[in-house]
Amino acid sequence: MAGKDVVELGCGTAYFSAWLARRGARPVGVDVTPEQLATARALQAEHGLAFPLVEASAEDVPLPSESFDLAVSEYGASIWADPYRWVPEAARLLRAGGTLVFLVHGLLLVLCWPNFDDPAGEELARKYFGLRSLEDPADGSTTFHLPYGEWIALLRANGLEVERLVELQAPEGAETRWDFVTPEWARRWPSEEIWKARKAA
Ligand SMILES: C[S@@+](CC[C@H](N)C(=O)[O-])C[C@H]1O[C@@H](n2cnc3c(N)ncnc32)[C@H](O)[C@@H]1O
Repeated sequence: MAGKDVVELGCGTAYFSAWLARRGARPVGVDVTPEQLATARALQAEHGLAFPLVEASAEDVPLPSESFDLAVSEYGASIWADPYRWVPEAARLLRAGGTLVFLVHGLLLVLCWPNFDDPAGEELARKYFGLRSLEDPADGSTTFHLPYGEWIALLRANGLEVERLVELQAPEGAETRWDFVTPEWARRWPSEEIWKARKAA
């Protein structure tokens, strides 16, 4: 990480960028919510870290093209922004040879969610084809989820070659933080996925 320029898209509290800063990276956190950035600033002060925080949508980032070695998103832009808008932005921000890494809900989990209140079941509850976004009726929020073929096509269309898709399995004895997935479910199927793609050198 030492000396790497990193942009975190939808950084929230920016704890992930803080980890990378401690490893010698030069992160920039981007988030659309001023309150989240205020928390990130308070945490920077508390932990004696300082790196830039930019208030903007990951769909339209006011930072120069080809200025980062790594773009990351941990349930930030990766689920809350339209992939057809944030992925092109991530590709634009990366230098040739740069890497995009993002964490999202497992696609099987999304397909097995009957609704936003009950945990994922063992049957497919949604259509795969045409999947793009889901609205939570409780708060009107929208999250974005794509079929695998669409992710690969979108990344490649923006010059990003998929290097890995890591399907996370909950370890024995793990607990889950959210009601919508049980530890037993997450032991049997991937509830989280990490995508890693590289911009052509
Ligand atoms: C669940 S938080 C996760 C962020 C971070 N990993 C954390 O744990 O704090 C999601 C973040 O995405 C941000 N976000 C939502 N839509 C966004 C957008 N279009 N552009 C940039 N950030 C966005 C939200 O403001 C929020 O801070």
